[in-house]
Amino acid sequence: MVPVKKDFVDNMFSVKGKVALVTGATGALGKVLAKAYGYAGAKVIMTGRSEGKLKELEDEFKAENIDCCYVVADPAKEEDVQELIKASVDKYGEINILAVCHGYNKPQNILEQSVADWQYIMDADCKSVYIVCKYVAQQMVDQGKGGKMVVVTSQRSKRGMAGYTGYCTSKGGADLMVSSMACDLTAKYGINVNSICPTVFRSELTEWMFDPESAVYQNFMKREPIGRLAEPDDFVGFALFLSSDASNFMTGGNYDCSGGYLTC
Ligand SMILES: NC(=O)c1ccc[n+]([C@@H]2O[C@H](COP(=O)([O-])OP(=O)(O)OC[C@H]3O[C@@H](n4cnc5c(N)ncnc54)[C@H](OP(=O)(O)O)[C@@H]3O)[C@@H](O)[C@H]2O)c1
Repeated sequence: MVPVKKDFVDNMFSVKGKVALVTGATGALGKVLAKAYGYAGAKVIMTGRSEGKLKELEDEFKAENIDCCYVVADPAKEEDVQELIKASVDKYGEINILAVCHGYNKPQNILEQSVADWQYIMDADCKSVYIVCKYVAQQMVDQGKGGKMVVVTSQRSKRGMAGYTGYCTSKGGADLMVSSMACDLTAKYGINVNSICPTVFRSELTEWMFDPESAVYQNFMKREPIGRLAEPDDFVGFALFLSSDASNFMTGGNYDCSGGYLTC
């Protein structure tokens, strides 16, 4: 008898009926992932600091019959995150999936960067990840059913870059935090924690890099085996995989989503 169950294969990529909390839901990647969770039948809680943008998304998603809500919160503020968890559980009873999609960068040469600017990036990209994961993990532990955490970091967690002492450090820290959280949370509580390390994805901030005439684009193409930069959709399949039973044996990993950039 081949030991694979049809029922498992039929449903292993499903997030139907799960409750997914998405931070940075107003951003390029958070927005597509939140909608993808909704299309896949999950209940979606969107969070960020900009109420107007969150409301617009809620209206758009509800018009497509996606079961969703939003909660305004700054992921770097402990009290905000505690309120976020409470509001999420009040609304949907539990949280099964966490997708950490918020982030910030302000590239500056270290010689011109103030310590306060560096710290702001560290708080936005590293401390906030700790706070959100810590409180969601506690909620998942209390629920006693395990869960999935997907943290979006960056290929810059693995490679230095001029002007990126804040961003590379915070993303590198977040990747190691993910690996360490897996050691705390997976065996004992069934919570899988992984990160996705993306290359340049199209967003308001990166749009300029997509000009084929630009030196930045041409430099990327020397090291992008896939032959293009990424569109937000390119990240959805991987994020859904890491949110579903199909990835039950994967935890603590920092997974390249760079079109091969990190392989050459
Ligand atoms: N796009 C890329 O090329 C790329 C490449 C590698 C890695 N990443 C990473 O992937 C994640 C998502 O990227 P994205 O392109 O979707 O970014 P994005 O479009 O710039 O959106 C990021 C979201 O994060 C929130 N945010 C901004 N500054 C923040 C701060 N100081 N503290 C807390 N939240 C803040 C914002 O929402 P609110 O203003 O509503 O809070 C914003 O909508 C980020 O972690 C980013 O670093 C992106």
